[in-house]
Amino acid sequence: MHGQAEETLKNYIRDEKLRKVFGKVFDESTILAVHALAKKGIFSVLEFPISSGKEAVVFRAVDASGNYKAVKIYKIETSGFRHMMDYLKGDPRFKNVKNEKRNIVHAWTKKEFANLRLANSVGARVPMPYGYYENVLAMEFIGKNGDASSTLRETKMGDYSWAYEALAENIAKLLYKAELVFADLSEYNILVNAEKENAPEIVLIDIGQAVLTSHPKAEEFFMRDMRNIANYFTRVGVKKSADELIDDVRAWKQKLQGSK
Ligand SMILES: Nc1ncnc2c1ncn2[C@@H]1O[C@H](COP(=O)(O)OP(=O)(O)OP(=O)(O)O)[C@@H](O)[C@H]1O
Ligand SMILES: [Mg+2]
Repeated sequence: MHGQAEETLKNYIRDEKLRKVFGKVFDESTILAVHALAKKGIFSVLEFPISSGKEAVVFRAVDASGNYKAVKIYKIETSGFRHMMDYLKGDPRFKNVKNEKRNIVHAWTKKEFANLRLANSVGARVPMPYGYYENVLAMEFIGKNGDASSTLRETKMGDYSWAYEALAENIAKLLYKAELVFADLSEYNILVNAEKENAPEIVLIDIGQAVLTSHPKAEEFFMRDMRNIANYFTRVGVKKSADELIDDVRAWKQKLQGSK
């Protein structure tokens, strides 16, 4: 990285060491994408990475008014783009994606944004999406006083039944109102948000791979999700089989009819 891109990055990452790391992980076009999104006023500084995975780095960002945002930046050199193609191919929204790394990752980012927006519009609890540009996605920061919420996996609770109920409701909203199947649902992609005193909530994240129910593998993905979730809750004391979970999701169908 050199010249203009480096100068541009200085506006968004204050710490020199972090800037160096960023320059190693991301290319110049990603810096320009950060710039394009920041220009819309969504955020002004990338403060630090909350999480750094194989496919993406999630930053805590802050906007000009001091509000926290989460900015997820997908790596172009990701090793996951072949598996991304599987989830894009059967989706009528993304059938014209060129089979090239950069295009796939951009489409994936757009898909995560579209899924977040769709899920949000039916009242499922996901981070509010704010915008995206190429491989950069900005969304609501889930956390309390600037500390990002933990995943369900990392959260130790006495009682998990409320989380189970909330999850069944959210799965039902996705399925019946948005016609979306999450397709990678697990205790790792659910945050437990304790921001509101006495009223913790679960928030579904990492929804890029979610597919419409018309996807040829939607049913298979749905059954895998139900097995994963039932197994997890059984381990933490809410004993449920996948079939019982499906019944609990179905029970929401009527309740949701006529609501938002
Ligand atoms: N909106 C958000 N608010 C707060 N923290 C978030 C948000 N989105 C993601 N995170 C944090 O970043 C982590 C990784 O996010 P996510 O699962 O979307 O990315 P990923 O690329 O799948 O990473 P991984 O491979 O580690 O699962 C989450 O476990 C969570 O700790
Ligand atoms: Mg994840």
